[in-house]
Amino acid sequence: MISPFPLLGKTPPPIIQPLNTGLADACAELHATAFRYSWGEHEFERLISASNAFGDAAIDPRKRTLLGFVLSRVAADEAEVLTVVVAAGQRKRGIGRQLLTSHIGRLRNVHVKTLFLEVGETNTAARKLYGNLGFAEVGRRKNYYRTDNPTEQIAALVLRRDIDPTQRRGWDA
Ligand SMILES: CC(C)(COP(=O)(O)OP(=O)(O)OC[C@H]1O[C@@H](n2cnc3c(N)ncnc32)[C@H](O)[C@@H]1OP(=O)(O)O)[C@@H](O)C(=O)NCCC(=O)NCCS
Repeated sequence: MISPFPLLGKTPPPIIQPLNTGLADACAELHATAFRYSWGEHEFERLISASNAFGDAAIDPRKRTLLGFVLSRVAADEAEVLTVVVAAGQRKRGIGRQLLTSHIGRLRNVHVKTLFLEVGETNTAARKLYGNLGFAEVGRRKNYYRTDNPTEQIAALVLRRDIDPTQRRGWDA
């Protein structure tokens, strides 16, 4: 039977909006849930307010809470993703894809032509996300990330994605 209240109980899609320093606290909290070496609130304030920083946040439209964010640094016509994270309970809903797609669109608007990032070789979720969005491997840094096992390190893959200036912002960013 078709529900007369189709939106009831369903999580509405997030709002994607530019990241601002008012979210530094929430960014630090979320970042600490996902990364071994996390950055604090002041570090995020500093990063977000830098003149060459570009960030996007995914906001829960009902609770106004931070569901995820991406932060990049721009230098001339290149940019580097510093971090991207989606809250553990919100993953695999397409939020990561939505965030990065909007982000790439915004970077295109400021004439960024190439986007780089590093990802742990064993980070299946992130590699799938980036691969789907057209990132390609251009380098590998051996033993780059530490793990809980002091004798084991993980390689970082350097990925690159060209941003076509003629394409429009949208799902196919
Ligand atoms: C990586 C991360 C941002 C992905 O966010 P997300 O919102 O779950 O991503 P999406 O839902 O948009 O999924 C994107 C793709 O990855 C796939 N995916 C997501 N999680 C996956 C997993 N655990 N295993 C395999 N594939 C996965 C999805 O199926 C989707 O592919 P599809 O479109 O072909 O179905 C999220 O897992 C995260 O925050 N991880 C911890 C922090 C981190 O590792 N950041 C990246 C550092 S480089």
